[in-house]
Amino acid sequence: MTALREAEPAAGRGRAEQVRTLFSEIAPRYDLLNHLLSLNVDRRWRRRAIRELGWEAAPGGAYLDLCTGTFDLAVELAARRGFEGTVLASDFALPMLARGLGKIHDRPVLPVCGDTQRLPFADRTFAGVTVGFGVRNLSDLASGFREACRVLEPGGRFVVLEFSVPPGRLMRGAYLLYFNHILPRAGRLVSGHPWAYSYLPKSVEGFPGPRRLAELIREAGFTRVEWFLLTGGIAAIHVGVKG
Ligand SMILES: C[S@@+](CC[C@H](N)C(=O)[O-])C[C@H]1O[C@@H](n2cnc3c(N)ncnc32)[C@H](O)[C@@H]1O
Repeated sequence: MTALREAEPAAGRGRAEQVRTLFSEIAPRYDLLNHLLSLNVDRRWRRRAIRELGWEAAPGGAYLDLCTGTFDLAVELAARRGFEGTVLASDFALPMLARGLGKIHDRPVLPVCGDTQRLPFADRTFAGVTVGFGVRNLSDLASGFREACRVLEPGGRFVVLEFSVPPGRLMRGAYLLYFNHILPRAGRLVSGHPWAYSYLPKSVEGFPGPRRLAELIREAGFTRVEWFLLTGGIAAIHVGVKG
């Protein structure tokens, strides 16, 4: 077993590399575990995130899905009736992109291998930007948000779907039991990965709460930042508009 396998992602630059390795390693089982461990509610959350994007105002525009993984959010947008644009779907873990290719079919989704913190796109390229369960993994959250703002057209919306810790005591207790005890064991069993699914609850616990996240999105240059909780606070959607 290598040191990388034994160690969970640390802080700083090395963290990005470890996160990339982690997702590259679990790519073959990612979709199965994603839907299984979220009891499929993630599908409903994704539909809601796409509704918040307001793509109907520019149905023929170019959109960007960051940390796209196996394209679930990108395909959710591209499959909307009346959508006539293109979705660029970027991720830095090539095995995740490769794993998701079969979902694209003839939909207008273009995979891009790229780092969310240094996007290979010109300023003001996209009518809207989404990211699902991705920003929690960034080693420098502020630079990821600044990049999203940079590549958006003025007036474009940035939608962030991310896990959160429920505020209510009862829901929080049940959630922590599931997240800290059941999910790591089930994840280890199905994925065969020694720590990937222990990293998930830890990364959620160490992540800024929704209020702080909204502040960070504002500080990156977005205005009219709003957020709301989903399913008792297990997840949250933040929406910011580029001024
Ligand atoms: C939990 S998965 C989410 C995938 C997908 N968006 C979804 O909703 O299922 C997180 C993804 O973020 C990607 N990721 C993490 N940090 C990244 C970065 N700095 N640049 C690009 N992709 C990154 C990982 O490779 C992984 O595919």
